[in-house]
Amino acid sequence: MQSLENKIREVGKVLSPIVLKVDAFLNHQIDAALMKAVGEEFAARFSDVKATKILTLESSGIAPATMLGLVLGLPVIFARKRKSLTLSDNLLSATVHSFTKNVTSEISVSRDFLKAGDQVIIIDDFLANGEAVRGLLSVVEQADATAVGVGIVIEKGFQHGGKELREKGVRVESLAIVDSMDVDHITFRQQD
Ligand code: G4P
Ligand code: NA
Ligand code: NA
Repeated sequence: MQSLENKIREVGKVLSPIVLKVDAFLNHQIDAALMKAVGEEFAARFSDVKATKILTLESSGIAPATMLGLVLGLPVIFARKRKSLTLSDNLLSATVHSFTKNVTSEISVSRDFLKAGDQVIIIDDFLANGEAVRGLLSVVEQADATAVGVGIVIEKGFQHGGKELREKGVRVESLAIVDSMDVDHITFRQQD
C-alpha cells in the first residue's frame, strides 16, 4: 500500500535493528485519514471472503480494525489484555508471549461476542513473531468459529511470524512488509 509505505518512510523511526517506531500515526497519535484508507485496503484484499466479525487485540489493533468494521458493516471485537471488572466468566482465553517486550499476557474475549460459526477476520498493527495472531487464532478456534484471514498493517518480514503462519495455511494480508531496515533506509517487499 503506497500511501502507508510513504508514511512509514516519512515519519517512521528505526529504533533498533528490529524495532520500528510509528507512534506518529499508529501506536500513539493516530492518522485517521490513513487508517480509513487502511480499512478500505483491507476490505479490498478480503473482498472474496464472507466475514461476520472482525477480531483484534487492544490497544493498537483497534483503530485499523474499526475502520475495516466500518467499511464492511461488521462488529469489531478487541481481545483484552487485562481482566476487566465486568468481564468475568464465559471467557475464551489464550496466553501470548511477547519476545520483543519479554512479557507474557493472558488475552480474553467474551463468549457473548464470538460465537460458533462466526467467520472472523483477525486484524493487528504489527506482525513480528506471530505470537499475538496465534493467540487470536486460538481464541477463534475455542469459539468453534473460523478464521478466514489475517490482516496486518505492518509486517516485519525479517522476523518469522508471517512465514510460519503462511506455511500453516493461514491467509495473511500485510499492507506493508518491511524486509530490511536501518536508520537511513527501509526496504519494503514488492507486492502485486
Ligand atoms: P508478535 O505478536 O508478532 O510475536 O509480536 P511481539 O510479541 O514482538 O509484539 C509485542 C508488542 O510489540 C505488540 O504490541 C506489537 O504490536 C509490538 N511490536 C512488535 N514489533 C514492533 C515494532 O517493530 N514496532 C512497533 N511500534 N511495535 C512493535 P502491544 O504490546 O500489543 O502493544 P499495543 O497494541 O498496545 O500497541
Ligand atoms: Na503495538
Ligand atoms: Na499490537
